[in-house]
Amino acid sequence: MKITAVILAAGQGTRMKSDLPKVLHPVCGVPMIEYALRAAWEASTEIPVVIIGHGAELVREFLGETACCVVQDPQLGTGHAVQQAESTLRGKTDLVLVTYADMPLLRPETLKRLVETQKSNKGPLTMLTVSAADPRGFGRVVRGLDGSVQAIVEEASATEEQLSTHELNVGAYCFTAAWLWDALHKIKVSSKGEYFLTDTVALAVQAGLTVQALASDDLVETIGINTRVHLAEAEAAMRQRINRAHMLRGVTIVDPASTYIEPGVRIGRDTVVRPNTHLRGETVIGKDCVIGPNTISEDTTVGDACEILASVMEEAVVEDHVTIGPFAHLRKGAHLCKGVHMGNFGEVKDSTLGPGTKMGHFSYIGNATIANNVNIGAGTVTCNYDGVHKNLTEIGEDVFIGSDTMLVAPVKVGARSRTGAGAVVTKDVEPDTLVVGVPARLIKKLNEANDDRTD
Ligand code: UD1
Ligand code: CA
Repeated sequence: MKITAVILAAGQGTRMKSDLPKVLHPVCGVPMIEYALRAAWEASTEIPVVIIGHGAELVREFLGETACCVVQDPQLGTGHAVQQAESTLRGKTDLVLVTYADMPLLRPETLKRLVETQKSNKGPLTMLTVSAADPRGFGRVVRGLDGSVQAIVEEASATEEQLSTHELNVGAYCFTAAWLWDALHKIKVSSKGEYFLTDTVALAVQAGLTVQALASDDLVETIGINTRVHLAEAEAAMRQRINRAHMLRGVTIVDPASTYIEPGVRIGRDTVVRPNTHLRGETVIGKDCVIGPNTISEDTTVGDACEILASVMEEAVVEDHVTIGPFAHLRKGAHLCKGVHMGNFGEVKDSTLGPGTKMGHFSYIGNATIANNVNIGAGTVTCNYDGVHKNLTEIGEDVFIGSDTMLVAPVKVGARSRTGAGAVVTKDVEPDTLVVGVPARLIKKLNEANDDRTD
């Protein structure tokens, strides 16, 4: 059986008072339409159709190949919006699942239940309802004396008695396609000049057909976003849902209310996430780590047993047993190998720090390859930019870089060499050599026997 989702995303979203189309406003870092799209994909069998209109080009660009976009212009209501899919879908699908793009918390499981209910319904449609004390301006479900669904009335046109009903129309429906297209043409224009999709319910009832209502038991799922107040509510609810899922998989979240994890993030067991931590994008954190407090990670991969205190990481890779912070900044292309220690006020960009290398205090490392067990003294700077090019610095294994060394790139420091405090290294340094001064010059050759380095 072919099931196709139609997602309505053409409305103006006037109440958001925004230049950005409503459906592109992010919830936990992801545009809200993405949630509607993912849920629709899971509950259907064909590529979803998204009805776009307001800000059509931006929305189309965001969706790319993940949906089939159809433009609704002008936007004459939700019934008119679904009608736009007719020429694309007529004769090509058995069921049509309709959802609104402004309901990011609606779960795929719920949509699947909606589809399953309609599969066994003799009538042409099943709708999702919820009972709530606060009607939030939703359409009301009108039932007959026998309890059967009779109609949906919008708040603006509801009677006193209808307004007192607490059963609300969530805004998700599953239709038999063969019935839907003709029914849409029969919808009468409302006093607002719109064609309401919700009128299909009364049309079915008038034709003597059964409308099924699937009652949702989860109020949170039905949070729709019309204003920025709703946006913040949805954000909080989504955050709670994401955090809860991590906790149930074995992650300790000390204070879920102040922990901000985006949906694409993965975290290993027995990792502890401390307050005011933001894990964004495709961040992956291993097992047994302590992250935060006050850490921001974007698209960064962290191995097992790492400690990252009050630091910022962007597009970086951190291997196992690494300690970072407080106040470290890993930028794009930073790669910290196993056992690296990066202390306070350091910045690493487009550089690899080899296994066991230590960089304790106030250093900038950019465009550098640093081998294993290197000691980078306080205040070390790779002078990687000459005003035109980014130049490379290479440091061999077991090198000791003295405090306040300037490495004027391009430059290489050979294995086991040392630089004196305040050295300005402008030329390559051979292995096993001590250089000091400005510009740095060779003082003596070093070897294993007279190795007198100290930390
Ligand atoms: C709608 C329902 C209401 C339900 C509520 C739940 C109708 C008539 N009313 O009201 O019963 O309780 O959702 O949230 O359906 N859209 C288009 N083209 C249009 C108009 C709207 O694509 O011409 C899209 C919007 O972008 C939005 C969705 O349809 O994603 C819903 O429209 P909206 O104006 O938000 O409807 P509500 O007033 O919330
Ligand atoms: Ca809405």
